[in-house]
Amino acid sequence: PRTLRLGIAGLGTVGASVVRMIARRAEALSAATGCTITVTAVSARDPKRDRGLDLAGITWFDDPVALARSGEVDCVVELVGGSEGAAKEIVEAALAAGKHVVTANKALLAHHGNALAKEAESRGVSLAYEASVAGGIPVIKAIREGLAGNEVSRVYGILNGTCNYILSRMEAEGLTFEACLKDAQALGYAEADPTFDVEGFDTAHKLAILTSLVFGVEIDVEGVSVEGISAIQPLDLTMADELGYRIKLLGVAQATEAGIEQRVHPTMVPKGSAIAQVMGVTNAVTIDADAVKELTLIGPGAGGDATASAVVADIADVAAGLVRPTFGQPVTGLAAPRRVEMQRH
Ligand code: HSE
Repeated sequence: PRTLRLGIAGLGTVGASVVRMIARRAEALSAATGCTITVTAVSARDPKRDRGLDLAGITWFDDPVALARSGEVDCVVELVGGSEGAAKEIVEAALAAGKHVVTANKALLAHHGNALAKEAESRGVSLAYEASVAGGIPVIKAIREGLAGNEVSRVYGILNGTCNYILSRMEAEGLTFEACLKDAQALGYAEADPTFDVEGFDTAHKLAILTSLVFGVEIDVEGVSVEGISAIQPLDLTMADELGYRIKLLGVAQATEAGIEQRVHPTMVPKGSAIAQVMGVTNAVTIDADAVKELTLIGPGAGGDATASAVVADIADVAAGLVRPTFGQPVTGLAAPRRVEMQRH
């Protein structure tokens, strides 16, 4: 059988879960894809840390860019994070070397996804990003494959697990914002810089990716209007409760007369609504589309195993030989995207 050799850059919570999942699911993955998947190379900032992983026979790289270029690797799994610096260099080097890339990096894609997608498409390799939006919810596949026959008019949801976790605990236990954020960090949900979570930027990154996919346009993260949850007080939640509402941080993208509107802000949602029931680190994405009308996906939005689930799904696609168009760009041989102007704020 064929073999897919993986190079994993970044062995944090998600990277370690990916290594374990590939070992645990080796037989099933091979049966599903007709390909043997092996981890041949890894790199991490702290190579000495005990991660409880069996890395015997795997090549360690001190330099992740060297890993990305290595002749031992067919597919690079980028789990370093961040829109600039190492992550960007790794992905660029891997694509330039004609290797497939699987990434969970929403910040990188939000800011550089258009150029990276063009590079991947010109090389005929995958740039796969299921894990970049809504953690373990297979929302990219659901929209791209599952709803291919639909015209989507709106997509919205709870896209940041940390914020939903904080708001849920503040409401249920009357805790302060700061205490809940500390717990979210300890549980491995928050970004390296939690400002990205609580000020809404992480939600904006994910929304911009969804917008591109749903409306067939290039990513435009600058076009998202953003307000986070750091100013929310326990009193706001109590007042909302008395009026019959909960406060959720939503990302919304919709087609309007003026163009595509993209926004992120705390929103009062009626307590009886489906989205109000989504508590804790859970994410939810609702898609309004002509054929299915309304579809809501709910699931774990962050955390090692949940995110690894999405990463491994992309690895399985690559192993099966599926190279898909990346975002809403004209791809040779496919229909040009619908022309919709982006709305500026
Ligand atoms: N910090 C992110 C969140 C991680 O809390 O949702 C998953 O992208």
